[in-house]
Amino acid sequence: MTDIAIPDVQRAWINLRGGTPAEALILKSDWPVPKKLAPGEVLLKVQAGALNPIGYKFFAVLPNFLAGRPRVPEYDLSGVVVDTNKSRFRPGDEVYGWVPSNQFRSKEGALCQYVKVSEDWIVSRPHNVTPTQAAGFTLAGQTAYTAFMRHINIQPGQHIFVNGGSTAVGAFAIQLAKIKGAKVTASASGKNEEFVRRMGADKFVDYTKVSVLEYLESFTRTSNPKFDYILEAVGISVPTMYTASDSYLSPQGAFLSVGVQPKDTSLPELLNVAKCFVAMFRPIFLGGNKARWINVFVFNHIENMDQFQKYVAEGSLQPIVDSVYDFNDALNAYDRIMSKRATGKVVVRVDPTSE
Ligand SMILES: NC(=O)c1ccc[n+]([C@@H]2O[C@H](COP(=O)([O-])OP(=O)(O)OC[C@H]3O[C@@H](n4cnc5c(N)ncnc54)[C@H](OP(=O)(O)O)[C@@H]3O)[C@@H](O)[C@H]2O)c1
Repeated sequence: MTDIAIPDVQRAWINLRGGTPAEALILKSDWPVPKKLAPGEVLLKVQAGALNPIGYKFFAVLPNFLAGRPRVPEYDLSGVVVDTNKSRFRPGDEVYGWVPSNQFRSKEGALCQYVKVSEDWIVSRPHNVTPTQAAGFTLAGQTAYTAFMRHINIQPGQHIFVNGGSTAVGAFAIQLAKIKGAKVTASASGKNEEFVRRMGADKFVDYTKVSVLEYLESFTRTSNPKFDYILEAVGISVPTMYTASDSYLSPQGAFLSVGVQPKDTSLPELLNVAKCFVAMFRPIFLGGNKARWINVFVFNHIENMDQFQKYVAEGSLQPIVDSVYDFNDALNAYDRIMSKRATGKVVVRVDPTSE
């Protein structure tokens, strides 16, 4: 059932082909509004969308048939329910969440005015956060949640190292670790120290002044007990951070990685990727490491979304916004996230009246 007047066509950024965002995207004003809803789907009027590295990485590497092009790009969003379709939502409910990154089937994405999305992929937006703040919660937040609340069971007082405390994943991870009562040491460049400490980090490592590997190796020499867990939240391919870890990571602990990614396609980088894969699968009796390697893959679980939303509502989880761009300026938003220097989420305001 349609609750609010909805147009037949909309303005939408469309991913037409592979390449850089400037090559891959065009802004259309006659993209159909998806009015046919399957059971369990609702229609949202989008308030804001937020970018993630996977968006522009998919433009660069996925062929059209795997990417499902032409399609609307991006996953994270906030919006207003305009067709409830007999779901648990009411017309006008303000929500945030994401659309699946399933590239084969869905044409849906965040950078458009109207999107259909499963009711299990969205939650109500707490009143203490604005639509542009909430738009960026989900993909990075659920990655951090999967890492720290599903893969491992953090105990109060445990010590965690987050490599990349100013990445969106790292910043949410620090906050979640603090909610669990852990002690956190995190790395970033010096300009982000204040941000990383505001997220809750107890200790800060400026990786532009001291190599993270040297810091980790010196850690137990200075009589500290070992780290209980390490989260690699940048997406690098440095095998030694794991292969040298017996000296600084508890054998009962784990090395969690958001994904081994080469900086470029040079031979040394590709060799490092190969070494990471060998290290993650090598058993202890063949010289492997004592602590487990865990690859973190974000997935949707409505209970995780609900719990994250409760933390936001009670003020234990802060939104992290680097910058907000107008809808027409989405290509500049892509320049910002591709700089790899964003501190928090890069947001695109879709509805100009949204806060
Ligand atoms: N596995 C999954 O399911 C999953 C899900 C989401 C994301 N990811 C991956 O997780 C990674 C992080 O994503 P994101 O959205 O959180 O990134 P992001 O917010 O765009 O990351 C930008 C931040 O990275 C920091 N940074 C860059 N190089 C660094 C380094 N060598 N050491 C420490 N910090 C560094 C920058 O801080 P400085 O300016 O201080 O360097 C900047 O604040 C990406 O590789 C992404 O593909 C994986």
